[in-house]
Parts: sequence; structure tokens; C-alpha cells
Amino acid sequence: MGLKKCRGIVVEAPASSANVGPGFDVFAIAVEFPKDMVTIYLKEEGGLKVFVEGLDSRNIPDIVDGNTAGVVAKKLVKDYSLPYNIEIRIVKGVPVGMGLGSSAASAAAVAYGINELFSLNLDRNSLVKYAAEGEVASAGKPHADNVSASLLGGFTLIRSYDPIDVLRFDLPENLGICVASPKISYGQKKTEQFRAVIPKLIELDKLVHNVGHASALVAAILTKDLKLFARSLSDAVVEPARSKLIPGYDSVKKSALMAGALGVTISGAGPSMIAFYDLTKVDGDNIGEEMCSAFSREGYEATYICTKPGQGCRIVKYL
Ligand code: HSE
Repeated sequence: MGLKKCRGIVVEAPASSANVGPGFDVFAIAVEFPKDMVTIYLKEEGGLKVFVEGLDSRNIPDIVDGNTAGVVAKKLVKDYSLPYNIEIRIVKGVPVGMGLGSSAASAAAVAYGINELFSLNLDRNSLVKYAAEGEVASAGKPHADNVSASLLGGFTLIRSYDPIDVLRFDLPENLGICVASPKISYGQKKTEQFRAVIPKLIELDKLVHNVGHASALVAAILTKDLKLFARSLSDAVVEPARSKLIPGYDSVKKSALMAGALGVTISGAGPSMIAFYDLTKVDGDNIGEEMCSAFSREGYEATYICTKPGQGCRIVKYL
């Protein structure tokens, strides 16, 4: 451990989509765009401070204990007895509440940046564990799927939470990703609300369904088989419960498939929907527009983002 000879560090962290069908709290995908940009400054005084600007920043708490990035920084400062005068400036690029791991991107950037700045030499699993602490501030539980993808990029899989053990794989380069998000206000702690509807106990046949599909999804990624990937997206446990909270769920799915998507599922906790397609063959914008039209037929304005698999956190510069 040793402080780098600089005043600070700028880190970029990508958005992510968690669950990827059957992998509730286990699978996630990092996307190329959008991203958060986080600057961590070392100061002479002032304690630990968080400032938030950029997209949707009005809806993001900037008190240390209420902000995902602040929670991560505070924990690292305490556990490693780091100098307490740290200023974190977050420029949000990842929209809030769009099922793209907005809070996780900032948390991942801070864990990654502090690790670099103070040369803590934290391994991949420890970084994920610290970054996941921040999710308590937004979801009420330290789920680690989004932060894993934001930190590591590609497709991530949490084999175990205790002890934390995260695997990472590259995704097929022709995998197109389109996320459509309806403008619905669920108030604060949306993820917590979407977690409250999940059944606590499940039947054995649903377990069999999800283990089969989740295993096949990983096999599809390893063999770069987009068709197998798409038919492995089905989730018998969480998606049926959450779909009831998403107006137009069935018609959004159908519209995306009609426009050439290979498969569609809920992005993260929802209400956004994520469609996957072969970007060498299909126009992603067409899929996005069709999904938004389906939401608007239900009376909800919607926006979409088309992107592709992306890398994890990276250092933009030292200051
Ligand atoms: N796995 C989490 C959930 C992701 O589905 O609640 C939240 O983005």
C-alpha cells in the first residue's frame, strides 16, 4: 500500500444490465455506452465529500451515507485507515432508474479509483465486495451483479456471495443490446420495490428451469452462439413476478421480437426491457423504436439506448 504521487484520479465506469434472464443477482453485462466519470481528489482538509452532476443528478443524494459511491469510499477509508480528506466528483452519464446499474457504476468507479490511488492491491473479488456495499444505499441489499460488470466488463457471473467469487467472460462481438425504458415514477428505492415482489420460496420445477437456462446461457457465451443465448434468457422465478409491475411487458417483448430481436428480458430490476440482436444483421434503432411505441400504446413515454458489450472501469488520467 502506498499513495500514488498525484492529486487525484479520474475513472470511467460503464453502465450494466443485471440478471440477463435466469441469473437473478448472479449474471450481468457491461455495456459500451453510457458511462459515469468519477474524479477522486486528495485534499488537505474537508473530510469525505461527494458531489454529483450530470444526467439525473438532481435525483441522486450527495450526502456520503446516502450515496453509493460515498458509502464505498467511507468503508475503504475506515478499513484501510486512509487519509480522510477525499473529494469525489461524479459526472453521471448512466441514467437513473433505467435498469442500467446507475448507482453501481459510480460505486464501481470509486472502489476502482481508491484502489489505484492508494495502491491497495485489492483483488477482483475484494473490489466487487467493496463496490457492492454501495448498493445497500440504493437497493437495501448488497447485490453484486451490476458492480461486477461495471468493474470487470464483459459478462460477469457471481458463483458465490460468501465468500464472494466472481467470474468474467467476453461476450460475442456481434451482440447488439437495446434497452427501452418507460418513464414511470416509482419514487425512491425503486429496486427495493421491485425486489419486494419476488417469491421467497420456489417450486422445484422452476429451479430446474432456471438452472438449465442459466447453464445454457453461459455455454452460449463461451461458444458465441447468439441463438442459444437468446433461447436461454427465460426466467421462471423472478421475471413472472416483476412483469406484473411493467405496463405493456408482453407487447414490448413481442414488438422487439417482430423487429428482429433474438431475445428479450427485463433489464436489471426493471421496468426497462432489454433486447438482444445480431448487430451485423439487424437495425437496433428499429428494435428500440418498436419497444418505445409499445410502451407508448400503454400510455407511457419511453426512451431507448442501443449499445454493445463494453469493457469495465478504466483510468482516464491521474491528476
Ligand atoms: N439483481 C438486481 C435485481 C439488480 O434484480 O434486483 C438490480 O439492478
